[in-house]
Amino acid sequence: MRLRQRQSPLRWETVSGYDALSERAAERVLGAIIHQPRLVLGLPTGRTPEGMYAHLVQHCVGQERCFDGVKTFNLDEYVGLKPDHPGSYARYMQQRLFDHVGLFEGDIFIPDGLAEDVLADEPDLPMHQALERECERYERAIADAGGLDLTVLGLGRNGHIAFNEPGSPFDSRTRVVRLDDETRRANAQYFGNGDVPEWAITMGLATILASKSIVLLASGASKAEAVARLRHGPVAESFPASLLHLHDDVTVLVDREAARLL
Ligand code: PGA
Repeated sequence: MRLRQRQSPLRWETVSGYDALSERAAERVLGAIIHQPRLVLGLPTGRTPEGMYAHLVQHCVGQERCFDGVKTFNLDEYVGLKPDHPGSYARYMQQRLFDHVGLFEGDIFIPDGLAEDVLADEPDLPMHQALERECERYERAIADAGGLDLTVLGLGRNGHIAFNEPGSPFDSRTRVVRLDDETRRANAQYFGNGDVPEWAITMGLATILASKSIVLLASGASKAEAVARLRHGPVAESFPASLLHLHDDVTVLVDREAARLL
């Protein structure tokens, strides 16, 4: 589907480099928490947000319940990994944020790529159905929390946001998806043997677009083409991030390298 390009309300912020980007992103999150202590936060994984998490953790040193009252929903998770698997996003988040900021376990939500709770209730359910149920549960949990207030996103070189690969429908919700080979190659560093899972659960594009506010992060020259495509390209499902042009509160936070083709 290709939609008519309209006057885009995206706000662009360009900072000098990765550390400035990370600091600015952390400031946005902390500012949102101060403004709204019961914030519902959508959170990304990958290389780009690592610096943001480091700044958040640094800010929270010595503050017992820094994220008190905040609920977090991760954007995605691989199918088939236990939460303690080194490549899982549950583990990534534990190490980089959750162990350090005093979040209650019950306020942390990550899609379960093993659908363990679903299968505990219905042990005979085939795996693909259990995963579908898990996706429905995840959507319900977001709705029960009152919807996402602020969602931070990374940008894939192919334009993906979360694991919504090119061609993902703009009206998609949380679902099981097959990952592009390019995405699996890009994430191989988190898997010692390079064996990146083929399937994942991801929030859908409509789930993300329903967030009241969105910050998209892109750093480094490898993202420059995707950033230029976001800035100048049409709104089209072939480039999922272009969907953000349809939202009225999106900040695109890039560093100079990522902005060099603008
Ligand atoms: P990266 O991934 O931060 O590891 O570059 C971004 C993404 O794929 O969303």
